[in-house]
Amino acid sequence: MTVRQTAVSLAAMRIYGWGLLSVMLSAFLLACGGGSSGGDGTDGDGTAGDEDFDEDGFDDAGDTVTASAVELIGINPPETPWSDMSHEEREFDMIGRFHPIYRELFQQHDAERWAEFGCENCHGPNGSETNFAMPSDHLPPVPAPGSESYNRARGVLTDMYTFMEEQVTANMTTMLGQEVTCQSCHPSAG
Ligand code: HEC
Ligand code: HEC
Repeated sequence: MTVRQTAVSLAAMRIYGWGLLSVMLSAFLLACGGGSSGGDGTDGDGTAGDEDFDEDGFDDAGDTVTASAVELIGINPPETPWSDMSHEEREFDMIGRFHPIYRELFQQHDAERWAEFGCENCHGPNGSETNFAMPSDHLPPVPAPGSESYNRARGVLTDMYTFMEEQVTANMTTMLGQEVTCQSCHPSAG
């Protein structure tokens, strides 16, 4: 595991708390040569509580989001080109970088609507059955950018379209390091 991946894992742990990232942590410990966590009940089975977390000196707020993912992790290109990553590497990258950052972006845009923002908001409720294939039928169809119907819809839903263009699509392009359009996530409306 590289220095930056380690930093990203630690940042994500700080944002989420221990339990939710037990999978990531195991990978982190394995990659670091099997470090152990100090023998007071945190035996790596993912059931460590917030108290254990505190003793490790990370955060004292449990699963409450207290840090900015955008600041801690940063909106950066991937270390390995996305197209060269295995499915597992992509999943790891989604957990460690994309999900925390996108959760923050969506919540900043509309905290009430996206009070809960998980993998399923993009991938639908059955991500593991569909192998997280995108675009996802779970999202509403969007017309091709530049088309007449796109511009008409944009005229009605200007606020949402601006957010999708300037935040969601633009940052996904940077973070994947490859071209992203609305149709990378939404089915095409034809
Ligand atoms: C903001 C939307 C968004 C969120 C949230 C999100 N993903 Fe993704 N995910 C994508 C997109 C877009 C792709 C496809 C990228 C590409 O290859 O063009 C993708 C690809 C993947 C892949 C790779 C699939 C393949 O083809 O190999 C996996 C695995 C994955 N996501 C898992 C997750 C998991 C697990 C979570 C939650 C921790 C998550 N994603 C959250 C948008 C999202
Ligand atoms: C990285 C994936 C991704 C990309 C790229 C993306 N979107 Fe979205 N879009 C989403 C997600 C996730 C939602 C919220 C779904 C939910 O509420 O669960 C959404 C919601 C929307 C909505 C609101 C639908 C509703 O039900 O209110 C519109 C409109 C929309 N997107 C248009 C666009 C347009 C236009 C583009 C291209 C400029 C675009 N999106 C690019 C993931 C994406």
